Parts: sequence; C-alpha cells; structure tokens
Amino acid sequence: MLELREVTRAYELGGERAGVFGVSLAVPKGCLAVLAGPSGSGKTTLLQLAGLLDQPDEGAVFLDGQEVSSLPERERGRLRLTRLGFVFQAFNLVPVLTALENAMLPLQLQGLVEDEARRRAAAALDRVGLADRLHHRPGQLSGGQQQRAAIARALAPDPLLVLADEPTASLDHAHGGPLMDLMAELAAERGATFLVASHDPAVIARADHVFRLADGRLIEEEHR
Ligand SMILES: Nc1ncnc2c1ncn2[C@@H]1O[C@H](COP(=O)(O)OP(=O)(O)OP(=O)(O)O)[C@@H](O)[C@H]1O
Ligand SMILES: [Mg+2]
Repeated sequence: MLELREVTRAYELGGERAGVFGVSLAVPKGCLAVLAGPSGSGKTTLLQLAGLLDQPDEGAVFLDGQEVSSLPERERGRLRLTRLGFVFQAFNLVPVLTALENAMLPLQLQGLVEDEARRRAAAALDRVGLADRLHHRPGQLSGGQQQRAAIARALAPDPLLVLADEPTASLDHAHGGPLMDLMAELAAERGATFLVASHDPAVIARADHVFRLADGRLIEEEHR
C-alpha cells in the first residue's frame, strides 16, 4: 500500500508560495484512489512525490511499509523501474515503436531477456484488449487504444503502485469511464494500488477512495 505522511512540497515563485502542505493519505493494496481538485490544487505535485520523481521538503512517503522518500536517488530510480508504473495524459508512447515494443521497454530496462520481455508485454497487451494490435505503432492506434497500451506498459513489470495523471483528459467522454473500469479491475486483480489525478467526474465516480484537494491541502476524503 501507499502512504503519504504529512508531506509538504513548497514552491516559491515571485514571492508566491504554492505546492502541497501537510497532506496525509493512505491507499490500500488493490484499490483505485483518485486525487481530485481544481487546477493548481496540487494533484500532480502529490503524484510526483508518490512516484518518487520528487522529494518532500517535510514528511515521508511509504510504499509497502518502507519509507522510500528519503532513499538516495539511485535507490529511488531502481524502485521507479521495478515497483512503479506511470501513465500520463499524453500517453508518452514511443512513436517509432510498436505497441509490443513499447510495452517491452521497461522490462528490457530491468534486464529481462528479450523472449521473456516479449511474452510478458504481449500478455499485458492481451489483458487490456489489444491482442490484435501488438504490431501497430501509436499513430496507428485510436486514443483509447493508445491509453490502454500505456496501461499495459505500466503494468507489464507487475508494479506495486501505478500513478496516472489525468489519464482520460485526451479521450472523449465515452472512453473515460471504460478506461477507469479497466484500471479498477486491474487494481483488484493484481493487488496493485492505483493513484489517479483527475477532475473528470467519470473517473471520480469509479474510485474506491477519493481525496479532494484545494490550494495544496487535503480538504475531504471519501472511502467507498
Ligand atoms: N516547478 C514548479 N515551480 C513553481 N511552482 C510550481 C511548480 N510546480 C507546480 N507549481 C505550483 O504548485 C501548485 C500545484 O500545482 P500542480 O501541478 O500540482 O496542480 P494540479 O492540481 O496538478 O493542476 P492541474 O489540474 O492544472 O494539472 C500550482 O499553483 C503550481 O503553479
Ligand atoms: Mg496536474
């Protein structure tokens, strides 16, 4: 599970102070949690702290009971590669690689031999319904298919925690709900924790836990 304990990350710019302040939250294994709140409320900042892409000024991040926020960058990099998965608004697939090659990337970076990486990447793509699109490049996939390929890539290494920043923002309304249903299913089936930043009502409606932010502070939480 993921726990943020009293995390603060302050940005000072032109005399103005922004960021996130004293946020505590916990998301159990197998659950889908959403960080909700208006633009500038601190959602991406919190995802970066949970994703070990940034470090808090104060407070700590725990992953599976281990304090991970103060580890040296080398260790955090290793955890990002082996235990975390990332899905972004713009999908971030490598355009010249096929869906299969994209999903193989993190596995190969971990040092898996090519056959094993191919087998696991193909299984992940099959799981998200793209078995017949393995050899398509991102430009040959629809937006919804690209986002499912990005989810397969994040899941192929069997991560403990998957972080997604506005994953439905580039999709039309009809695709957001099914994509979240898929994430909720995958969270439960893999026992992974999903943390999604979004202000999309279709996303918030499908979460097990909703954390609402305003001005960098947690103002409300709802557990369903
Ligand atoms: N690198 C930075 N330097 C200075 N200020 C920053 C930096 N990153 C974020 N901020 C400020 O911190 C606050 C929170 O930003 P954040 O990106 O976390 O918001 P958000 O909730 O993700 O918004 P959005 O919904 O628009 O993506 C904002 O006021 C933003 O301007
Ligand atoms: Mg953001």
